[in-house]
Amino acid sequence: MLVTQILKDVYMPKEEVFSIMDNLWNAEKLYGRDAVIKSVLGCFHDENENLVVMEVVDETYKSFSSVDLFGYATALTGSYDYKETVKKHILGNKYFSNFNIGVTATIGGSGAISNVIRGYTDPGQTILLPEYMWEPYKVFAKSNGLNYESYVLFDGDKFSLDDLARKVIKIAKKQRKTVLLINDPCHNPTGYSLSFEEWEQIMKILEEAAKFGDVVLLNDVAYLDYDFRGHSEARRHFKLFSNLPENILTVIAFSISKSLTCYGLRVGAAVAISSSREVIDDFNRVSAVLCRSTWSTVPKGGMDLFVKLHEDGNLSARLMAERDNIIGILKKRSAVFMEEAEKIGLHHLPFSGGFFLTIPLDTETARNVIQDLKSKNVFVLPIDGGLRIALCSVQTIKLRLLAQHLHDSISRFKVN
Ligand SMILES: Cc1ncc(COP(=O)(O)O)c(C=O)c1O
Repeated sequence: MLVTQILKDVYMPKEEVFSIMDNLWNAEKLYGRDAVIKSVLGCFHDENENLVVMEVVDETYKSFSSVDLFGYATALTGSYDYKETVKKHILGNKYFSNFNIGVTATIGGSGAISNVIRGYTDPGQTILLPEYMWEPYKVFAKSNGLNYESYVLFDGDKFSLDDLARKVIKIAKKQRKTVLLINDPCHNPTGYSLSFEEWEQIMKILEEAAKFGDVVLLNDVAYLDYDFRGHSEARRHFKLFSNLPENILTVIAFSISKSLTCYGLRVGAAVAISSSREVIDDFNRVSAVLCRSTWSTVPKGGMDLFVKLHEDGNLSARLMAERDNIIGILKKRSAVFMEEAEKIGLHHLPFSGGFFLTIPLDTETARNVIQDLKSKNVFVLPIDGGLRIALCSVQTIKLRLLAQHLHDSISRFKVN
C-alpha cells in the first residue's frame, strides 16, 4: 500500500454535492433556470441567481499592480498590516489592549481550522464537533488520525448546554486535553447563533474542564459578518475569551471567503487569544511551522485587499453597504421561507441568521426526499441528520414553493 493507512481510511463524505450539481445543470439545460430550484451551493447568489462578487471588492482587487498581486507575501505567517487589520476587524480596540494575541494568515478558514487541529492534537485523540456540522470538519479530524464525538446542539429552541458540559468534562478527564470546535455565529448548517448568555455558560464549562487538563476552543467564525444581530453583537462573546486560566487557548478561525465574497482567493486567519504570553509565543512558532509545511504563504493580493478595504474609509463604507444589502436579502429570504414553513407545518431547527437553515430528518427519509425532489427539479443538499436549505443561493420568489415541496415530500416518506 503506497498511501498511509490513516488517509486510506478517511471516508470522504458528501461527494453528493458534485453529483447533485450534474443533475441540476442538466435540468437547467432541459427546462430552463426558472423551472429549477437549487438549494445546494454555499455561496451568495443574487435574485437573478448569479454568484455575487461585491463591486468594491472586485474594483479594489483589480486596481492592484501585477507585482502586488503576483509577488510573494512579505512574511510566512502573513504581512504585519494584514494581521493588524484582521485583529482590529475581529476584536475591535475595545477589550483587548491587555491580552496576548497571535495572528496567522491562513489559506481561508480551512487553513486556520487545519492548523489548529494539526497543531494541538495527537493522533488517536478525540475532538468535539457539533452534531450538525460543516461536513469537512470530519475530514480534518480523520485525516489527522483523530476521532470525533459530537455534542447535541439543541434543547428545544435553545443550545443544549447540558450535553456539551457532559462531553467536555468526560473528554477532559480522559485525555487531559480537550479540543472543542464551535461554529458561531450563524452556524452552518442551522443558522443558529449562540446568545451572549449561552457563551458565558460555555466558558464556565471550559473553565471547569481546564481543572483536568488543557483546553483549546476553536471558534469558527466563517459567517461572522452576516450575523442578523449586527456587527457588535456578533462579536460580543469574544470578550469572554480573555482572563481565562493559562491552560485555555482560544483560536478564532476567520475567512474572507464569505466576508468579502472572495471564496476562491483563499485567505483567512487564525487569531489566538490567551492569558499566557508563552502560549501565544508557542502559537506563533508552531503556526510558522504549520504554514511552511503546507501552503507556505497566503496570496499577497488577498491580504492587501483586506487591508485596503478596511483602512480606506470610503471603501469601508461601500463594503459595508454592499454587505448590508446581502444581509437584507438573506433576512427577506429566511422570513419568507420560515413564514411558509410555519403556515404549512414544516419543521426546521432554530435559526437566527446567516446563509443556511436545517430541516432535521433521519437518513432514510432524507435520501427518499432528495430523490423525490430531484424528479420535480428541486435540488437540496443532504447533511448528517437532515437537509440543508441554502438561503444564500435560492431566489426569494422560489422559497415558498421550496417549503411546499419539502413539506409534501416529507409527508410522503416520513414514518410517524
Ligand atoms: C462553517 C464553515 N467553516 C469554514 C469554512 C471555510 O471556508 P474557506 O476555507 O473557504 O474560508 C466554510 C466554508 O464553506 C464553512 O461553511
